[in-house]
Amino acid sequence: MKKILITGALGQIGSELVMKCRDVYGADNVIATDIRTADSPVVHSGPFELVDVTDRQALYDTAKKYGVDAIIHLAALLSATAEKKPLFAWNLNMGGLVNALEVARELKCQFFTPSSIGAFGPTTPKVKTPQDTIQRPTTMYGINKVAGELLCDYYFHKFGVDTRGVRFPGLISYVTPPGGGTTDYAVEIYYKAVEEGRYTSYIAEGTYMDMMYMPDALNAILTLMEADGSKLVHRNAFNITAMSAAPEDFAAAIRKHIPDFEIEYEVDPVRQAIAESWPDSLDDSAAREEWGFRPEYDLEKMTADMLTKVKEKLRK
Ligand code: SER
Repeated sequence: MKKILITGALGQIGSELVMKCRDVYGADNVIATDIRTADSPVVHSGPFELVDVTDRQALYDTAKKYGVDAIIHLAALLSATAEKKPLFAWNLNMGGLVNALEVARELKCQFFTPSSIGAFGPTTPKVKTPQDTIQRPTTMYGINKVAGELLCDYYFHKFGVDTRGVRFPGLISYVTPPGGGTTDYAVEIYYKAVEEGRYTSYIAEGTYMDMMYMPDALNAILTLMEADGSKLVHRNAFNITAMSAAPEDFAAAIRKHIPDFEIEYEVDPVRQAIAESWPDSLDDSAAREEWGFRPEYDLEKMTADMLTKVKEKLRK
Protein backbone atom coordinates (compact mmCIF):
# COMPACT_ATOMS: atom_id res chain seq x y z
CA MET A 1 0.00 0.00 0.00
CA LYS A 2 1.34 3.41 -0.97
CA LYS A 3 -1.74 5.53 -1.64
CA ILE A 4 -4.91 4.47 0.12
CA LEU A 5 -8.55 5.49 -0.31
CA ILE A 6 -10.73 4.86 2.75
CA THR A 7 -14.56 4.93 2.58
CA GLY A 8 -16.66 5.48 5.71
CA ALA A 9 -13.72 7.53 7.01
CA LEU A 10 -15.75 9.30 9.71
CA GLY A 11 -17.15 6.08 11.18
CA GLN A 12 -15.97 4.18 14.26
CA ILE A 13 -13.13 2.36 12.50
CA GLY A 14 -12.43 4.93 9.78
CA SER A 15 -11.83 7.89 12.07
CA GLU A 16 -8.93 6.08 13.76
CA LEU A 17 -7.69 4.13 10.75
CA VAL A 18 -7.28 7.29 8.67
CA MET A 19 -5.08 8.89 11.35
CA LYS A 20 -3.00 5.73 11.81
CA CYS A 21 -2.51 5.31 8.05
CA ARG A 22 -1.53 9.00 7.75
CA ASP A 23 1.14 8.40 10.41
CA VAL A 24 2.47 5.31 8.68
CA TYR A 25 2.09 6.17 4.96
CA GLY A 26 2.14 10.01 5.03
CA ALA A 27 -0.83 12.40 5.30
CA ASP A 28 -1.15 13.06 1.56
CA ASN A 29 -1.20 9.34 0.79
CA VAL A 30 -4.44 8.64 2.64
CA ILE A 31 -7.62 9.86 0.92
CA ALA A 32 -10.45 9.92 3.46
CA THR A 33 -13.98 9.79 2.03
CA ASP A 34 -17.41 9.82 3.61
CA ILE A 35 -20.98 10.72 2.69
CA ARG A 36 -20.87 13.63 5.16
CA THR A 37 -18.28 15.99 6.50
CA ALA A 38 -17.49 16.87 10.11
CA ASP A 39 -15.21 19.03 12.20
CA SER A 40 -12.74 16.18 12.62
CA PRO A 41 -8.97 15.63 12.29
CA VAL A 42 -9.86 13.18 9.50
CA VAL A 43 -11.10 16.14 7.44
CA HIS A 44 -8.37 18.60 8.45
CA SER A 45 -5.19 16.51 8.46
CA GLY A 46 -5.07 15.39 4.81
CA PRO A 47 -7.14 14.86 1.66
CA PHE A 48 -10.87 14.46 2.30
CA GLU A 49 -13.62 14.00 -0.32
CA LEU A 50 -17.39 13.71 -0.05
CA VAL A 51 -18.29 10.42 -1.74
CA ASP A 52 -21.48 8.36 -1.63
CA VAL A 53 -20.34 4.75 -2.12
CA THR A 54 -23.56 3.91 -3.96
CA ASP A 55 -22.34 6.31 -6.70
CA ARG A 56 -19.79 4.15 -8.54
CA GLN A 57 -18.68 6.92 -10.87
CA ALA A 58 -17.94 9.29 -7.98
CA LEU A 59 -15.94 6.60 -6.23
CA TYR A 60 -14.05 5.81 -9.44
CA ASP A 61 -13.34 9.49 -10.18
CA THR A 62 -11.97 10.08 -6.69
CA ALA A 63 -9.76 6.97 -6.74
CA LYS A 64 -8.50 7.91 -10.23
CA LYS A 65 -7.86 11.55 -9.33
CA TYR A 66 -5.50 10.56 -6.51
CA GLY A 67 -3.96 7.53 -8.25
CA VAL A 68 -4.61 5.22 -5.31
CA ASP A 69 -3.24 1.66 -5.20
CA ALA A 70 -5.35 0.41 -2.26
CA ILE A 71 -8.99 0.76 -1.20
CA ILE A 72 -10.17 0.12 2.35
CA HIS A 73 -13.94 -0.02 2.16
CA LEU A 74 -15.62 0.60 5.52
CA ALA A 75 -18.88 2.38 4.65
CA ALA A 76 -21.75 0.16 5.83
CA LEU A 77 -24.75 -0.04 8.16
CA LEU A 78 -24.28 -2.10 11.35
CA SER A 79 -26.51 -4.96 12.49
CA ALA A 80 -29.26 -3.31 14.55
CA THR A 81 -29.80 -0.44 12.09
CA ALA A 82 -29.84 -2.90 9.21
CA GLU A 83 -32.68 -4.80 10.91
CA LYS A 84 -34.69 -1.57 11.03
CA LYS A 85 -34.08 -0.78 7.35
CA PRO A 86 -33.26 -4.10 5.64
CA LEU A 87 -33.71 -3.03 2.03
CA PHE A 88 -31.72 0.15 2.55
CA ALA A 89 -29.01 -1.95 4.23
CA TRP A 90 -28.89 -4.36 1.29
CA ASN A 91 -28.56 -1.50 -1.18
CA LEU A 92 -25.90 0.33 0.81
CA ASN A 93 -23.89 -2.64 2.08
CA MET A 94 -23.93 -4.69 -1.12
CA GLY A 95 -24.17 -1.82 -3.62
CA GLY A 96 -21.30 0.01 -1.93
CA LEU A 97 -19.16 -3.12 -1.80
CA VAL A 98 -19.62 -4.11 -5.44
CA ASN A 99 -18.89 -0.52 -6.51
CA ALA A 100 -15.71 -0.40 -4.43
CA LEU A 101 -14.63 -3.81 -5.82
CA GLU A 102 -15.28 -2.65 -9.39
CA VAL A 103 -13.13 0.44 -8.83
CA ALA A 104 -10.39 -1.78 -7.35
CA ARG A 105 -10.61 -4.05 -10.40
CA GLU A 106 -10.50 -1.21 -12.93
CA LEU A 107 -7.67 0.66 -11.20
CA LYS A 108 -5.77 -2.49 -10.09
CA CYS A 109 -5.95 -1.67 -6.38
CA GLN A 110 -5.38 -3.89 -3.38
CA PHE A 111 -8.64 -4.17 -1.42
CA PHE A 112 -9.76 -4.60 2.19
CA THR A 113 -13.26 -4.76 3.63
CA PRO A 114 -14.31 -6.08 7.03
CA SER A 115 -16.61 -9.01 7.57
CA SER A 116 -17.92 -9.70 11.08
CA ILE A 117 -18.98 -12.20 13.73
CA GLY A 118 -22.38 -11.29 12.26
CA ALA A 119 -21.56 -13.55 9.29
CA PHE A 120 -22.41 -16.51 11.55
CA GLY A 121 -25.85 -17.67 12.64
CA PRO A 122 -27.74 -19.87 15.08
CA THR A 123 -26.64 -23.13 13.41
CA THR A 124 -22.93 -22.21 13.59
CA PRO A 125 -20.94 -23.98 16.35
CA LYS A 126 -20.96 -21.37 19.14
CA VAL A 127 -17.78 -22.07 21.07
CA LYS A 128 -14.38 -21.73 19.40
CA THR A 129 -16.23 -21.20 16.13
CA PRO A 130 -13.99 -22.67 13.42
CA GLN A 131 -12.61 -20.62 10.55
CA ASP A 132 -14.51 -22.74 8.01
CA THR A 133 -17.96 -23.67 9.26
CA ILE A 134 -21.72 -23.27 8.76
CA GLN A 135 -22.75 -19.69 7.89
CA ARG A 136 -26.52 -19.26 7.83
CA PRO A 137 -26.98 -15.82 9.49
CA THR A 138 -30.52 -14.66 10.24
CA THR A 139 -29.91 -10.89 10.06
CA MET A 140 -29.76 -8.67 6.97
CA TYR A 141 -26.32 -7.49 8.16
CA GLY A 142 -25.09 -11.08 8.39
CA ILE A 143 -26.46 -11.94 4.98
CA ASN A 144 -24.62 -8.91 3.58
CA LYS A 145 -21.41 -10.01 5.30
CA VAL A 146 -21.52 -13.60 3.99
CA ALA A 147 -22.36 -12.38 0.48
CA GLY A 148 -19.53 -9.85 0.83
CA GLU A 149 -17.00 -12.52 1.82
CA LEU A 150 -18.00 -14.57 -1.23
CA LEU A 151 -17.95 -11.55 -3.53
CA CYS A 152 -14.43 -10.65 -2.42
CA ASP A 153 -13.32 -14.26 -3.02
CA TYR A 154 -14.93 -14.03 -6.47
CA TYR A 155 -13.08 -10.82 -7.39
CA PHE A 156 -9.82 -12.47 -6.38
CA HIS A 157 -10.36 -15.71 -8.32
CA LYS A 158 -12.11 -14.21 -11.33
CA PHE A 159 -10.29 -10.91 -11.77
CA GLY A 160 -7.11 -11.25 -9.69
CA VAL A 161 -8.01 -8.36 -7.36
CA ASP A 162 -5.86 -8.69 -4.21
CA THR A 163 -8.82 -8.76 -1.80
CA ARG A 164 -8.26 -9.31 1.93
CA GLY A 165 -10.50 -9.21 5.01
CA VAL A 166 -11.18 -10.22 8.59
CA ARG A 167 -14.28 -11.09 10.59
CA PHE A 168 -14.19 -8.37 13.24
CA PRO A 169 -15.70 -8.99 16.64
CA GLY A 170 -17.35 -6.10 18.56
CA LEU A 171 -14.90 -3.19 18.43
CA ILE A 172 -14.33 -1.02 21.49
CA SER A 173 -12.96 2.49 21.16
CA TYR A 174 -13.15 5.97 22.69
CA VAL A 175 -12.64 8.24 19.66
CA THR A 176 -15.85 7.81 17.65
CA PRO A 177 -18.90 5.94 18.97
CA PRO A 178 -20.21 3.02 16.93
CA GLY A 179 -23.73 3.49 15.62
CA GLY A 180 -26.48 0.91 15.44
CA GLY A 181 -24.49 -2.21 16.31
CA THR A 182 -25.39 -5.06 18.66
CA THR A 183 -22.03 -4.90 20.43
CA ASP A 184 -22.25 -1.12 21.10
CA TYR A 185 -23.05 -1.80 24.77
CA ALA A 186 -19.39 -2.66 25.31
CA VAL A 187 -18.48 0.94 24.43
CA GLU A 188 -21.42 2.62 26.22
CA ILE A 189 -20.65 0.81 29.47
CA TYR A 190 -17.32 2.67 29.82
CA TYR A 191 -18.87 6.11 29.22
CA LYS A 192 -21.67 5.41 31.71
CA ALA A 193 -19.18 4.02 34.23
CA VAL A 194 -17.25 7.30 34.15
CA GLU A 195 -20.29 9.60 33.93
CA GLU A 196 -22.76 7.89 36.25
CA GLY A 197 -21.06 4.93 37.93
CA ARG A 198 -23.78 2.62 36.62
CA TYR A 199 -25.00 1.09 33.37
CA THR A 200 -28.24 -0.45 32.19
CA SER A 201 -27.36 -3.14 29.66
CA TYR A 202 -29.64 -3.99 26.73
CA ILE A 203 -27.75 -7.30 26.38
CA ALA A 204 -28.57 -9.95 28.98
CA GLU A 205 -26.21 -11.28 31.62
CA GLY A 206 -24.42 -14.40 30.41
CA THR A 207 -24.43 -13.40 26.72
CA TYR A 208 -20.91 -13.95 25.42
CA MET A 209 -19.55 -12.30 22.29
CA ASP A 210 -16.06 -11.72 20.94
CA MET A 211 -14.62 -8.24 21.42
CA MET A 212 -11.46 -6.32 20.51
CA TYR A 213 -9.88 -2.98 21.39
CA MET A 214 -9.50 -0.64 18.41
CA PRO A 215 -5.65 -0.50 18.40
CA ASP A 216 -5.62 -4.27 17.80
CA ALA A 217 -8.23 -3.93 15.04
CA LEU A 218 -6.18 -1.25 13.25
CA ASN A 219 -2.99 -3.31 13.55
CA ALA A 220 -4.85 -6.30 12.15
CA ILE A 221 -5.89 -4.34 9.04
CA LEU A 222 -2.38 -3.06 8.34
CA THR A 223 -0.66 -6.36 9.13
CA LEU A 224 -2.99 -8.30 6.86
CA MET A 225 -2.66 -5.75 4.03
CA GLU A 226 1.14 -5.89 4.24
CA ALA A 227 1.30 -9.70 4.64
CA ASP A 228 2.81 -11.98 2.01
CA GLY A 229 -0.19 -12.78 -0.23
CA SER A 230 1.18 -16.18 -1.19
CA LYS A 231 0.69 -17.37 2.41
CA LEU A 232 -2.99 -16.36 2.63
CA VAL A 233 -5.35 -19.28 2.26
CA HIS A 234 -8.41 -17.62 3.83
CA ARG A 235 -7.93 -14.23 2.28
CA ASN A 236 -11.28 -12.58 2.83
CA ALA A 237 -12.68 -13.72 6.07
CA PHE A 238 -10.16 -14.43 8.81
CA ASN A 239 -11.71 -15.01 12.23
CA ILE A 240 -9.97 -12.69 14.68
CA THR A 241 -10.67 -12.03 18.34
CA ALA A 242 -9.04 -10.59 21.44
CA MET A 243 -11.50 -11.69 24.15
CA SER A 244 -14.85 -13.37 24.65
CA ALA A 245 -16.89 -11.49 27.24
CA ALA A 246 -20.41 -11.00 28.64
CA PRO A 247 -21.74 -7.76 30.20
CA GLU A 248 -20.92 -8.93 33.75
CA ASP A 249 -17.27 -9.50 32.72
CA PHE A 250 -17.01 -5.85 31.65
CA ALA A 251 -18.66 -4.82 34.93
CA ALA A 252 -16.16 -6.88 36.96
CA ALA A 253 -13.21 -5.40 35.05
CA ILE A 254 -14.58 -1.85 35.55
CA ARG A 255 -15.09 -2.47 39.29
CA LYS A 256 -11.34 -2.92 39.69
CA HIS A 257 -11.08 0.83 38.91
CA ILE A 258 -14.53 2.05 40.02
CA PRO A 259 -15.44 -0.23 42.97
CA ASP A 260 -19.05 1.04 43.30
CA PHE A 261 -19.90 0.50 39.64
CA GLU A 262 -23.30 -1.12 39.21
CA ILE A 263 -24.85 -2.91 36.27
CA GLU A 264 -28.51 -3.68 35.71
CA TYR A 265 -30.34 -5.17 32.77
CA GLU A 266 -33.21 -4.01 30.56
CA VAL A 267 -32.91 -6.40 27.68
CA ASP A 268 -33.76 -5.22 24.17
CA PRO A 269 -35.32 -8.27 22.50
CA VAL A 270 -34.14 -7.33 18.99
CA ARG A 271 -30.47 -6.87 19.83
CA GLN A 272 -30.54 -9.77 22.30
CA ALA A 273 -31.83 -12.10 19.56
CA ILE A 274 -29.06 -10.92 17.24
CA ALA A 275 -26.43 -11.48 19.95
CA GLU A 276 -27.75 -14.97 20.67
CA SER A 277 -27.48 -15.89 17.01
CA TRP A 278 -23.74 -15.03 16.99
CA PRO A 279 -20.82 -17.09 18.31
CA ASP A 280 -19.68 -16.97 21.94
CA SER A 281 -16.01 -17.20 20.95
CA LEU A 282 -14.06 -17.52 17.71
CA ASP A 283 -11.12 -19.74 16.82
CA ASP A 284 -8.62 -17.34 15.22
CA SER A 285 -5.79 -19.82 14.63
CA ALA A 286 -5.87 -19.37 10.82
CA ALA A 287 -5.15 -15.63 11.20
CA ARG A 288 -2.36 -16.37 13.67
CA GLU A 289 -0.79 -18.96 11.38
CA GLU A 290 -1.24 -17.32 7.97
CA TRP A 291 -0.25 -13.71 8.77
CA GLY A 292 0.83 -13.59 12.39
CA PHE A 293 -2.23 -11.98 14.01
CA ARG A 294 -1.49 -11.25 17.72
CA PRO A 295 -3.78 -8.96 19.75
CA GLU A 296 -2.18 -6.95 22.52
CA TYR A 297 -5.17 -6.01 24.67
CA ASP A 298 -7.16 -8.37 26.88
CA LEU A 299 -10.19 -7.23 28.90
CA GLU A 300 -8.12 -5.95 31.86
CA LYS A 301 -5.60 -4.00 29.80
CA MET A 302 -8.31 -2.55 27.54
CA THR A 303 -10.46 -1.53 30.51
CA ALA A 304 -7.61 0.35 32.19
CA ASP A 305 -6.90 2.26 28.97
CA MET A 306 -10.55 2.89 28.05
CA LEU A 307 -11.37 4.32 31.48
CA THR A 308 -8.33 6.62 31.40
CA LYS A 309 -9.10 7.84 27.88
CA VAL A 310 -12.83 8.28 28.44
CA LYS A 311 -12.12 10.28 31.63
CA GLU A 312 -9.70 12.55 29.73
CA LYS A 313 -12.20 12.98 26.93
CA LEU A 314 -15.11 13.88 29.21
CA ARG A 315 -12.97 16.36 31.16
CA LYS A 316 -12.33 18.47 28.03
N1 SER B 1 -20.17 -4.65 15.92
C1 SER B 1 -21.03 -5.08 14.86
C2 SER B 1 -22.45 -4.96 15.23
O1 SER B 1 -22.75 -5.08 16.40
C3 SER B 1 -20.74 -6.51 14.53
O2 SER B 1 -19.93 -6.57 13.44
O3 SER B 1 -23.26 -4.81 14.38
